[in-house]
Amino acid sequence: MNKHHKGTMGILVGESQGPLPFSEASFCRKLCIMGGRQGMNVFVFCPEWISAGDISGIPGYIFEHGAWARKWMPRPDIIYDRTFTYDRKQMLRKQDLLSELATQHPFMYLTRGLAGKWSVYQALRKCPDFVPYLPNTVQYEGPPQLAKWLQTHGGEAFLKPRNGTHGKRTLHIQLQPYSGEMRVRGRSSRNTVFRRRFPSAESGLAWVDKFTGTRPFLVQPYLHLSSETGEPFDVRVLMQKNERGEWSLTGMVVRVGQKHSLTSNLHGGGTAYKALPFLIRELGVHDGKEAANEIRTLSQRIPEYLETHFGRLAELGLDFGVDRQGSVWIIEVNSKPGRSSFFRIGDPISAKKSIENPISYARYLLLSKP
Ligand SMILES: Nc1ncnc2c1ncn2[C@@H]1O[C@H](COP(=O)(O)OP(=O)(O)O)[C@@H](O)[C@H]1O
Ligand SMILES: [Mg+2]
Repeated sequence: MNKHHKGTMGILVGESQGPLPFSEASFCRKLCIMGGRQGMNVFVFCPEWISAGDISGIPGYIFEHGAWARKWMPRPDIIYDRTFTYDRKQMLRKQDLLSELATQHPFMYLTRGLAGKWSVYQALRKCPDFVPYLPNTVQYEGPPQLAKWLQTHGGEAFLKPRNGTHGKRTLHIQLQPYSGEMRVRGRSSRNTVFRRRFPSAESGLAWVDKFTGTRPFLVQPYLHLSSETGEPFDVRVLMQKNERGEWSLTGMVVRVGQKHSLTSNLHGGGTAYKALPFLIRELGVHDGKEAANEIRTLSQRIPEYLETHFGRLAELGLDFGVDRQGSVWIIEVNSKPGRSSFFRIGDPISAKKSIENPISYARYLLLSKP
């Protein structure tokens, strides 16, 4: 690729039934505009739109003159895959379609994905530096195992789906010491908060087993990741590669869920704040700064480490928990991070960088391609 032709980037997203037939329209619009500014051709397409032997190109959406337009686009040189699917059949179908596309015109992936919470946890566990920050995690196997876990973990557990998002289907289980009653607080598949009580551990565990169904779940200690006033919060760091192909910290925000809402995901109706002032308010100046520094250090080390396990990555959203003692916990690593929180807290520099980086890094990749 020569320096004058800056290449075509296709943003691959899921199909959707809105006014526009694809998801993440607002994010895609910002990327298209930023691409235009950097002289890169950016368009949006869905896996289902790829077809064999279509010589005219690929049907996609571009944002031009302030509106979306459907157009035949040249096949992409680089693909920014934002699709979410854990359905095996759908995943294989997408792979088939993309290899078909590659035979028509070779392309690069901007970034590889990560293979779910469990494999990320196992990879991080292998590095002694991260171990103190990882909540002890096991895969859910059924009522007898969970009963044993509760016995050795003060009667409490946190369950989450291995491939979950947005805090959906999470559970906090609590055995009452005297009555033997089991209390469950959770978020449903539609992300609404609910509570259940069971007269005994057996009846509760049977209900939990039904709730998990055939979905793989993870079990962790229940961590007290709430503010002084009882609202759950976490710290989200966006790490991205920049125009020189180096990892850099784009921004750090705190996301606060509503009281009793169990998780801090913004999809459950949470709010975002600037991280450092929030941590200082919660933990005091010394501990607040220290927690922020630990989070920054971990954030700078995790991406390169994960690349040695999962291949080249372009950006990661890292979720950290901070408990009442000020201890930092690595909660989750997202390979397809959102960035709405930077727009919400009015951090225009981070917000702009979060859109700029994928374009600059794509350009860097295309220009340094052998
Ligand atoms: N072990 C835990 N104890 C208490 N709360 C937790 C625990 N793990 C996660 N959470 C809360 O649940 C939220 C969602 O968990 P996470 O692992 O990020 O899954 P998701 O993919 O649904 O975002 C976290 O942001 C945090 O607020
Ligand atoms: Mg999360």
